[in-house]
Amino acid sequence: MLAIIGGTGLAQLSNLEITHRQVMRTPYGEPSGALTFGLINQHEVMFIARHGYGHTIPPHLVNYRANMWALQNQGAKRVVSVASVGGIRSDLLPGMIVVPDQILDYTHSRAYTYFDARDKLVTHIDFTHPYSLSMRSQILEAAKQAKEKFLDGGVYAATQGPRLETAAEINRYERDGADMVGMTGMPEAALARELGLSYAAIAVVVNHAAGRGDSRDGVHIETVGAVAQPALTRVKKVLELLVECDGE
Ligand code: HPA
Repeated sequence: MLAIIGGTGLAQLSNLEITHRQVMRTPYGEPSGALTFGLINQHEVMFIARHGYGHTIPPHLVNYRANMWALQNQGAKRVVSVASVGGIRSDLLPGMIVVPDQILDYTHSRAYTYFDARDKLVTHIDFTHPYSLSMRSQILEAAKQAKEKFLDGGVYAATQGPRLETAAEINRYERDGADMVGMTGMPEAALARELGLSYAAIAVVVNHAAGRGDSRDGVHIETVGAVAQPALTRVKKVLELLVECDGE
């Protein structure tokens, strides 16, 4: 089954016919909220709002391990994450949508692995390509069918938050190779890989990163909602087609 993790601005899916909700307990604590199950065009999907249904859980306090465990426990095989980002690369403008292909991880102090027992065989997952190649192509194909422009590839820098970045940090991330910056991409992607889930992300550019474009003198976070909403409507159109695709 396809699972959708909704980020900022996507706490529910209007095109989802809800069948039931499931409150979950996991060995890692509580997920961000009940899992919502339903149908999009007759296809079963499950949905979770990463920041909680009332948008109260900040990025560094999201229980990523519980969320991913719960999705898998309930039968998710494919997971698509929707997340908002700040654009670093000069051509990534607010309103654009990107399917990133690489990650730089600057987060810290988060529970980032399921393999932290001392009495189990040491496990190193391969993370050369952090997003599932097949999920990425399914998303890009669905976007093409929906006639929506989704950019193919880009390096996502995951920062700790909840504060936004300094201009110098953004310059550093760019020197490191980052194209966009967000606060929730990690450890979510790594945990998905540890669980063997097919995981990819849809990144919605909602602002210029700090020090860039119209964020030269500051990021005006209060205006991002107006940018995000039309972009998220486009994302939902693509998600409707993605559920119809049966691949893993
Ligand atoms: N920085 C970090 N995370 C973000 C941003 C940003 O500029 N915009 C949306 N999420």
